[in-house]
Amino acid sequence: MGKVLELNNVKKSYKLGFIPKKKQVLKGVSFYVNEGEIFGYLGPNGAGKTTTIKCILNLIFPEAGEIKIFGEDSLRPRARQKVGFLPENPYFYDYLTGREFLVFYADLLGLHGQKKQEKINYLLKLVGMERAAELQLRKYSRGMLQRIGLAQALLNDPALVILDEPMGGLDPIGRKEFRDIIVNLKKEGKTVFLSSHILQDIEMICDRVAIILAGEIINQGYLGDLISEKVLYTEITVAGVPAEEFQGLGESLSSRGDRVLLKVYEESNIEKVLNLTLQKKGKIVSLVPRTETLEDIFVNMVKNQ
Ligand SMILES: Nc1ncnc2c1ncn2[C@@H]1O[C@H](COP(=O)(O)OP(=O)(O)OP(=O)(O)O)[C@@H](O)[C@H]1O
Ligand SMILES: [Mg+2]
Repeated sequence: MGKVLELNNVKKSYKLGFIPKKKQVLKGVSFYVNEGEIFGYLGPNGAGKTTTIKCILNLIFPEAGEIKIFGEDSLRPRARQKVGFLPENPYFYDYLTGREFLVFYADLLGLHGQKKQEKINYLLKLVGMERAAELQLRKYSRGMLQRIGLAQALLNDPALVILDEPMGGLDPIGRKEFRDIIVNLKKEGKTVFLSSHILQDIEMICDRVAIILAGEIINQGYLGDLISEKVLYTEITVAGVPAEEFQGLGESLSSRGDRVLLKVYEESNIEKVLNLTLQKKGKIVSLVPRTETLEDIFVNMVKNQ
């Protein structure tokens, strides 16, 4: 499995203020992305995600470190030919239709004739925008703009697709649909790099992640290695038994109607709760073991910094 992207000790500072003071935004960032994986670049606002992406794309230049794309120095134009990019806040021409927008960029890339039409039709289908293709962009929702933006980023048939906060501003359904599209890109054999501060989205689709905090990578690896399968506690919902009955067995989180939600930490207490419920002629509504989530890891790390 080859490495599609590799960053080694990348440093970037911005000069700020009237008497310029340097602020280091990337403090020696290193990580790599394997071929064919969905890689999540996770960090809170201002951590340096977009700055990293700008460095990868040569939109700005780091003062130290090395960036390789498909094994070649990112400064070489050839390295960037197979990269597609969807920015965080893309700019769209309001009065073009979705199709016209794609035609405009396809022309810039030198695509023409039958091949151009086929490519555009194929991409409209891939991002689920066939039916809205003749509509002006100003009438698109945020989710539709993200999709058409992604189609544009795919026009040059990139092997590596870089998406900066692709799910930002989308509602839950929009996020789900966009996640599905990203998973489809992977199925097509593309490598996807996406940045996000939305943990659930990363957790659901990414193979490997790197977590950046204040310009430093504080953890990276396979999700399975970062998140332990260990059960942290079990949530049991029972009906028809008052919360007081379970004192000492678990923490009662909430009661609604005749339902009680219990957080049980000790495994041996699970059985006791179940037995007690049946004994008191109550009902067990649900039992959910909670394992660690990426969010737990993330919150712990941010707290411990
Ligand atoms: N052109 C610039 N000049 C000066 N400072 C900048 C510039 N661009 C970014 N910064 C600063 O660098 C830091 C990192 O910004 P960056 O945009 O990379 O963060 P981010 O992780 O993408 O955050 P977000 O989740 O909000 O998009 C921030 O403190 C930001 O204020
Ligand atoms: Mg950003």
